[in-house]
Amino acid sequence: MRIEFRSAKCSDVACDMLAYPVFEDEPKNSPARKWLDKVTRGVCSSALASGEFKPELHHTCRIHRPVGLKAAGLFLIGAGKKAQFNLARLREIAGTAARSAHSSACKTLAFVRQSNLPSSESARVITEGAIYGDYESDTYKTRDKEGRPLEHFILVSEQSRRDKEADEAIRRGTIIGEATNFTRALVNEPSNILTPTQFVERAAAMADKAGLDLQVLEREDLEKMGMNTLLAVSRGSDEPPKLMILRIKGQEKRSKGPLYAFIGKGVTFDSGGISIKPSEKMEDMKADMAGASSVLGAMVALGQLQPRHRVMALIPAVENMPSGKATRPGDVVKSYLGKTVEIINTDAEGRLILADAIAYARTLGANHIVDVATLTGACVIALGMVNAGMLGTDERTMERLRKNTAITGEKLWQLPLDEEYRKAIRSEIADIKNVGNRSAGAITAAKFLQEFVEDTPWVHLDIAGMDLDHDGRPYACKGATGFGVRTLVQLLI
Ligand code: BES
Ligand code: MN
Ligand code: ZN
Repeated sequence: MRIEFRSAKCSDVACDMLAYPVFEDEPKNSPARKWLDKVTRGVCSSALASGEFKPELHHTCRIHRPVGLKAAGLFLIGAGKKAQFNLARLREIAGTAARSAHSSACKTLAFVRQSNLPSSESARVITEGAIYGDYESDTYKTRDKEGRPLEHFILVSEQSRRDKEADEAIRRGTIIGEATNFTRALVNEPSNILTPTQFVERAAAMADKAGLDLQVLEREDLEKMGMNTLLAVSRGSDEPPKLMILRIKGQEKRSKGPLYAFIGKGVTFDSGGISIKPSEKMEDMKADMAGASSVLGAMVALGQLQPRHRVMALIPAVENMPSGKATRPGDVVKSYLGKTVEIINTDAEGRLILADAIAYARTLGANHIVDVATLTGACVIALGMVNAGMLGTDERTMERLRKNTAITGEKLWQLPLDEEYRKAIRSEIADIKNVGNRSAGAITAAKFLQEFVEDTPWVHLDIAGMDLDHDGRPYACKGATGFGVRTLVQLLI
């Protein structure tokens, strides 16, 4: 899709469809409403009056052959209430426009930017939204493909000129939008295709283009290093485990200041292992590498964006399967950090691979850790598919992440980490065990991770439930959401 910024009057833009956001509480006699009535010969007002078009968020209305417009069609999109409008909503609305254009086989879509949000940030998020909305999860359909990708997206602004800043905003938006779709494509891949080995291949294929250095630790390396909690998870699988380490080329010259480590849970399939899961919805466990994919996508974007701080990524990738070689409930292993772990439940595997990756990140000099993981069903029970759980000790980073949600649209809700919760993971025979009791499951999982983080400032994002969206949205197809990419990228830019 070609994306272009154009400073022009809406009526002068030749395109298949002109998308025009309409606020729910736009006064009847405002210039925007008057203009709309003129070009639609009053159809806009009558559609609003009859209730045919409700400008509630994402409601849409199509008007064919608007008068005096060079556009073949006018596409009104509800933008919700003015007071609630922000960059996150603007991105979604652009996504809704792209997605509807896409399903109606429109080739050229123009999107009118007329909000009073900062202009270059607006251009950036509109670009992201258009690319996000245009994505389809139809890789494996040989027929009945959904719609056709857009060829040309024009970002129209009547007020601001096309300048270096506008072009740069579109460049940045394109990088982030495409990195997010790269993540979504990975998460949507079935586990027979996306094994840990294939995950590494995909990362390697992308690394050079994105300005990243990729190092891969193989099973023998992990064995030598004593990463036994990580290895314990992959024992039952025929697929060898991998630990990827990604760095941004050129950043190693800097040695001072914060060094962030992004760590993503990369379980390419989570059967539960010997503590096997019930079959219902087990297929969703192909997405148990969503944290890893978000971390990889964020690094792919950051490699091209030149972030303010140093950052590296660690991605443990394994498959959790039952077999004669699999780890048994009750087994005890010694982690890379040296703490011993009694594995009570082999389905609590995410924390085991993260434990070693976290400890290793610290030996590599990380002084800020952010991990992203589809870690617990308990988090889905607590927060549903609206907010991801956020827990940690790095209050300043958490505050920044919270503020950024108005830009990223990725909602985060903090859960507590009181010392009292640690009791649940005390073991009789080892330093700790990998599960607590049934209560506060999202928190006790984080308490387990905290044992390996120790005093390093740390944020844990539990994105279970946020990784897949089976309903679809006006601005997104069904399937992988790419949740986490924007949160991580925004933190560093
Ligand atoms: N990958 C799952 C968590 C999950 C559940 C993600 C539902 C997305 C949707 C994780 O590995 C897991 O199995 N967690 C267990 C932990 C339990 C055994 C303590 C869970 O949440 O049931
Ligand atoms: Mn599990
Ligand atoms: Zn899992």
